[in-house]
Amino acid sequence: MHGHTPRPASFTAPGPLVGTVGIPGDKSISHRALMLSALAVGESTVEGLLTGEDVLATAAAMRAMGAHIKRSDNGVWRIHGVGVGGLLQPEQALDMGNSGTSTRLLMGLVATHPITATFTGDASLSKRPMNRVIEPLSLMGADFTASPGGRLPLMLRGLCPAVPIEYRLPVASAQVKSAVLLAGLNTPGITRVIEPVPTRDHSERMLRGFGAELDVEFDGATRIISIRGEAELRPQQIVVPGDPSSAAFPVVAALLVPGSEVTVTNVGINPTRAALFDVLRMMGGDISFANLREVGGEPVADIVVRHSVLRGIETPVETVAAMVDEYPILFVAAALAEGRTVARGLEELRVKESDRIAVMAEGLRAIGARVEELEDGLIIDGTGGDKLAGGATIAARLDHRIAMSFAVAGLVSRDSVTIDDMSPVATSFPGFIALMTGLGAQVA
Ligand code: S3P
Repeated sequence: MHGHTPRPASFTAPGPLVGTVGIPGDKSISHRALMLSALAVGESTVEGLLTGEDVLATAAAMRAMGAHIKRSDNGVWRIHGVGVGGLLQPEQALDMGNSGTSTRLLMGLVATHPITATFTGDASLSKRPMNRVIEPLSLMGADFTASPGGRLPLMLRGLCPAVPIEYRLPVASAQVKSAVLLAGLNTPGITRVIEPVPTRDHSERMLRGFGAELDVEFDGATRIISIRGEAELRPQQIVVPGDPSSAAFPVVAALLVPGSEVTVTNVGINPTRAALFDVLRMMGGDISFANLREVGGEPVADIVVRHSVLRGIETPVETVAAMVDEYPILFVAAALAEGRTVARGLEELRVKESDRIAVMAEGLRAIGARVEELEDGLIIDGTGGDKLAGGATIAARLDHRIAMSFAVAGLVSRDSVTIDDMSPVATSFPGFIALMTGLGAQVA
């Protein structure tokens, strides 16, 4: 990742997108599968693990702290855990690459072990705020030396035994919630997280699956999550469903390119993740779920999508967290819709892998869309289905979802759209270009 050679690519679609495709494993679930397996006593197996760079950064860090992690020839991962409390002092800095999830969740684990770790990352990750996890983990007793502004590189000295806390999340963030819950695993007593706005619940589901004592209570819409510490985790056989955040790209592409019909198989549709599909339906998108089932404690479906004329909407603010990573591609859909889309409540987008409000506004304008930037969102006046002009080069800024969103925009532009560097896509969606080409996209 560091000092890599940029890989530019240009995208167009000569005709409809047609076919059935499978997508890589869920990134959020893959991180958690590795971390919890590495803390169980005995051998866990993980099938369908995402082999993107972000998840490999988590694997490398867990190895550096004592877990044995191996991928067998059949693609199944075997993980021998060290037990809660058993993480070892890493000998070198933990290189988190581009991955915010690895960084924040692992900070939670290290915070309550008697070890010291240094976290480093790429240029994008080194700009992202870490105070949101430093604050609760400091309350538990961990000690931090961070770069100015609470950024990476930072050094974290864990405390064991740590102090259990009750923590009300000041931002809707599954990473912060998970960091505190994971820290609670090795803390005596009950650690509690109060979550006013629900965020993805993969940590809760999987912690329970591994045998942790975890309770969720409701106070109106507020979730109160309690975990009993000094837990003993039992090894599991995990199957990771496909990532809805990756499925989003072929799904929107199929909606936008006339004549398309695409099926994406084995997609996770956990309600704390899948709001994009509801919003696209509200816009008039022809999207249906087939073959509903459960995989690894998560709801899964095959998603069938047909080209549709979309209408602009005001996007719901209640479900921002349940589609927080999908706004870049939703903005592309809005740029082709009939009428105006107003998307607000998105201040968190400014601290993702890039400032996704500013970067999407600038890029969409460069390819001919009508966009107004707000502090907390975008107003987009769509073309009503006509192609965008295209013909520009977009700077992906080390942000995989920016790169893939503009790749899809290229499929609905008169002149191709060039992405200056597609390499960040390897963090979450290895095989993206091959998959899109297989459906009928043209990539040069
Ligand atoms: C994630 C949580 C979200 C999301 C990220 C993955 C997770 O981040 O954007 O891609 O796996 O917990 P925030 O917690 O910052 O909202």
